[in-house]
Amino acid sequence: MSDSASTSPIYLDHNATTPIAPEVLDAMQPYLTESFGNPSSDHPLGREARRAVDVARDQVATLIGASPDEIVFTSGGTESNHLAIRGVAASTSARCRRVVTTPVEHPATAGACALLEAQGWSITRLPVSRDGFVDAIAAAEAIGDDVALVTVMLAQNETGAIMPVGEIASIARSHGALIHSDGAQAVGKIDVNVDRLGVDLLSIAGHKFYAPKGVGALYVRSGTPIDPLLLGGGQEGGLRPGTENVAGIVGLGAASVLARLRVATDLTVIDALREQLWSGLAGKIPGLVRHTPSKSCLPNTLSLSFPGVLGRDVLARADGVLASTGSACHSGVDTPAETLLAMGVSPEIALGAIRISLGRANTRAQIETAVEILVSAFDIVRQDRTNRPPSGL
Ligand SMILES: Cc1ncc(COP(=O)(O)O)c(C=O)c1O
Repeated sequence: MSDSASTSPIYLDHNATTPIAPEVLDAMQPYLTESFGNPSSDHPLGREARRAVDVARDQVATLIGASPDEIVFTSGGTESNHLAIRGVAASTSARCRRVVTTPVEHPATAGACALLEAQGWSITRLPVSRDGFVDAIAAAEAIGDDVALVTVMLAQNETGAIMPVGEIASIARSHGALIHSDGAQAVGKIDVNVDRLGVDLLSIAGHKFYAPKGVGALYVRSGTPIDPLLLGGGQEGGLRPGTENVAGIVGLGAASVLARLRVATDLTVIDALREQLWSGLAGKIPGLVRHTPSKSCLPNTLSLSFPGVLGRDVLARADGVLASTGSACHSGVDTPAETLLAMGVSPEIALGAIRISLGRANTRAQIETAVEILVSAFDIVRQDRTNRPPSGL
């Protein structure tokens, strides 16, 4: 086993969360200490905080090609998805009570849709193909004039598949439906532009791209009918009341600036590391199954299944490698990932899955070591299984 197992672990779980970038932490620091004012306060400290929030709003808007007044700061991806879906539903006329979505959305979106379903809304879930893409033709067939909202994620958190949101957005628009996309895994990793996509609402999660946890944003295209989920002090244009998380918002702004500078380089460097990882593993493990598509996917994500073993068991033996079985939100639950099942992957293969997600600090040397560790972990687990009677798998 490599030295690195006894030193610092190799972090390959960036879709769960990223570390805070040093530049981001530097930008936040004053707002955690001396510049602690409330942006609503009408005195110098308050005005300083207000200016910082305004600058960050501008920075986030620039990252996605929006106007600053179209950015609503939230606590992260979950809240943004709920605000988008339930907020639009609350402002919709009784005539249109149908939402079109997919079976591979994050539980935050699935949960918001399930809530609406319990309130009498009709929810249509589009099929996904074997390689994890939502079918735009099926979307065209499913979306009608009775649809209030279409919600399709931009990048899938487990497989990294980038969905044809632009195509689906134009279908939605042609029926007068609004279109929301959960961009939590996409923004900061790939170039995202709200006008090119044609979306009305886009969710952003700071901790997926080197900002702190507990801050995010919802892009709301100007003129989009939407109600707040909470009532209070009127902050964020009344859409998200509550005293702003100033330091977190400043961090989100700084991370957005950094992402703009780095996205093109990160894309090629990280994609090359991912392919190094895949070919290293596939060359040594016959029968390894790749769930991440070869095209139109996030550069950093690799979902794969080890043959004949549980992915969780392999990771438990992979001392020094930090990755995830399915999405982080499902970790610990021993059922196959819904996303893989929706793609038509058999439960046995799906139980062998792990999700590896790379980030800026990963190196070629780390990937070489990770391949070594994962291959020997797989060998140990497979050996264990052949030495005892078969169980559930
Ligand atoms: C696609 C997607 N949407 C939403 C979320 C939830 O984001 P947050 O943890 O910021 O609430 C996640 C987090 O894993 C995600 O991957």
